[in-house]
Amino acid sequence: MIRNDLFLRALKGEDVNRPPVWMMRQAGRYLPEFMEIREKYDFFTRCQTPELASEITVQPIRRFGMDAAILFSDILVIPQAMNIEVQMKPNFGPYLPNPIRSVKDLERVVVPNINDTLGYVMEAIKMTKEKLEDEIPLIGFAGSPWTILCYCVQGQGSKSFDLAKGLCFTQPQAAHELLQKITDTTIAYLKEKIKSGCDVVQIFDSWGGMLSPVDYQEFSWQYIQQIIDALKDEAPVIVFGKGCWFALKEMAQSGASALGVDWTCSAQNARYLTGGQITLQGNFDPARLLSPPEDIKKMVHQMVNEFGKNRYVVNLGHGILPNIPVENARAFIDAVKEY
Ligand code: CP3
Repeated sequence: MIRNDLFLRALKGEDVNRPPVWMMRQAGRYLPEFMEIREKYDFFTRCQTPELASEITVQPIRRFGMDAAILFSDILVIPQAMNIEVQMKPNFGPYLPNPIRSVKDLERVVVPNINDTLGYVMEAIKMTKEKLEDEIPLIGFAGSPWTILCYCVQGQGSKSFDLAKGLCFTQPQAAHELLQKITDTTIAYLKEKIKSGCDVVQIFDSWGGMLSPVDYQEFSWQYIQQIIDALKDEAPVIVFGKGCWFALKEMAQSGASALGVDWTCSAQNARYLTGGQITLQGNFDPARLLSPPEDIKKMVHQMVNEFGKNRYVVNLGHGILPNIPVENARAFIDAVKEY
């Protein structure tokens, strides 16, 4: 049994003395010990080497003592496993040299055997669970099918993902075929992650907010719903949709255990839209971690007061930024523990 089960209890909706806390992208470039490993190994070597991935996963836990760990990996290991080449270019980000732009391109996209292609993730999970010694739960994650499609079609990050939207609006059949292949792969992948030891899974719909509410239903939400349906009886599912406040009402009735919100949606509005019953996670502006530590603590206490201590998981509204001082990240975590 897991000794610190605050996070699991919050996901079940049980009353707690204080809410649990973790930070999206908590294993990352703001940590000097992460940068040390980063100098020696390229990105996918770090993901594919269980010793490295598990070490990076526990680095922030050792330093700050969050209430949950999130496995170090990336959402783009899924397209890689589906036979779409993904590179991580220094000072550029993800780069997919052969993007999917037509029905013809789709022919080479496979729904892979998970253990053959992503067995290294399962090994990293087992090794991480050993290092965590049942102290706190481990979160496994995947991108939403729409967010993965964005990279597969655009071929790189983008402010508008115009080519990804273009495929959806001009060749909807091709887009849906790709979304379904990603969905099938993601379900098999997350099931295997849970079998390997992940206690909770989170779906990152980082680019869901690029779609209109109507298009969101067609190109993103229906696939996330398939993933929730397939997994909810095996582990709690958290859905984080950046910019997706407009879909919160529907999301609250999906069977997900918690919903992530970003900092553009107030606690009051998020509670109102979700009917006050489901656990919410968020939503500190990641850039607000640049404020002085005393200010961070005050703002965190105010945030907890606004969401309420129950049915709430303290987090940022998106991933932590690389330029955040370590002491400011500590103030964020400590503020919750002192609450
Ligand atoms: O949360 C954690 O600590 C676990 C690690 C994690 C990474 N990526 C490691 C990573 C998680 C949860 C992700 C998810 C991810 N990856 C998302 C969804 C979450 C979000 O922030 O919206 C997305 C969209 C990606 C795709 C991706 N991977 C991008 C856009 C980049 C480049 C970012 C940049 O600023 O360079 C990556 C690379 C990446 N993934 C890094 C890390 C720590 C940075 C590169 C490096 O360490 O060399």
